[in-house]
Amino acid sequence: MTQVPDTVGMTAQEAALACSNAGLQVVLRHTAPPRSGPGPGEARVIRSQLLSPDTVELLIATPTAERLPRLIPRHLAIICDGNGRWAGARGLPREKGHRAGTDKIRSVVEWCLELGVEYLSLYIFSTENWRRPPDEVEGLMNLITESAAKDTAELVRSGVRIRVLGQLDGLPPAVREAVGRISELTAQCSKMVCNLLVNYGGRAEIVAACRSLVRQACSGAIDPSAVDEEALGRHLLTAGMPDPDLVIRTAGDVRLSNFLLWQSAYSELHFAPVLWPDFSRSDLFWALDDYSQRQRRFGGLQAEGR
Ligand code: IPE
Ligand code: IPE
Ligand code: MG
Repeated sequence: MTQVPDTVGMTAQEAALACSNAGLQVVLRHTAPPRSGPGPGEARVIRSQLLSPDTVELLIATPTAERLPRLIPRHLAIICDGNGRWAGARGLPREKGHRAGTDKIRSVVEWCLELGVEYLSLYIFSTENWRRPPDEVEGLMNLITESAAKDTAELVRSGVRIRVLGQLDGLPPAVREAVGRISELTAQCSKMVCNLLVNYGGRAEIVAACRSLVRQACSGAIDPSAVDEEALGRHLLTAGMPDPDLVIRTAGDVRLSNFLLWQSAYSELHFAPVLWPDFSRSDLFWALDDYSQRQRRFGGLQAEGR
């Protein structure tokens, strides 16, 4: 089989030359249309993959993903999608994809910590994911329990506070216990908050907040006129946290799938083609570079500073 040259980090031209010298046809694909900023000479390869034995696809990002992005979101939220497709492409059971996805969570937590992200929210099991075959759901639940136990010490060492957001009473008791323990043991950590969204659904969250406000109003504890956006926000699972500045979804689908519906009203959205287990530091940097170039106007005419 043809040896594929390691082209990550090369300019598009250098990489194309290296591949054709190795006897490979080259297909160039850009992660997103180049925006303002460095010229085409700065376009770099962030990943390569074989499309056939003699054709390589080079995924190109502009600008280079290796320097620090200009702006770091205070709150970064990620829809971690594509584990199943990752496994399928390798002829592996979906469970292997979920395992690789769990490993990726560890890396992304580390990168975000390094970058100074204050809040990282990761969508890992939705209220709709119960529709999957029972053995896949069971595998996912076991993975959550397993990694909660395995990762606690390292999270405490690195100062990451874990908060688990979702309908926890709908989880199997062993999972509930494991996530309760990890939340408790990391409660004093203050470098970064990592929200794990488990059995989470944006609509269910809003309904629960409304129900709680209606109860208070019916009992006379609050006046209905006190129900405003702030009050509703205080009843959401993210109460006290800033809204996500940037929502990334991996694996190419362009939808929110019931993720942080209220909170993402003014979030910037970045859709990455890469499957979650393949999501690399460069992919994160690319998303942050993209975010850095957005103009957030919040309905006004001027871009607001962050
Ligand atoms: C994301 O990966 C993990 C969960 C939703 C639990 P998927 O399992 O949805 O992977 P795809 O979308 O089928 O590739
Ligand atoms: C969204 O992915 C939920 C998580 C990543 C946990 P899904 O794979 O469940 O989303 P759909 O079904 O493609 O919308
Ligand atoms: Mg999916």
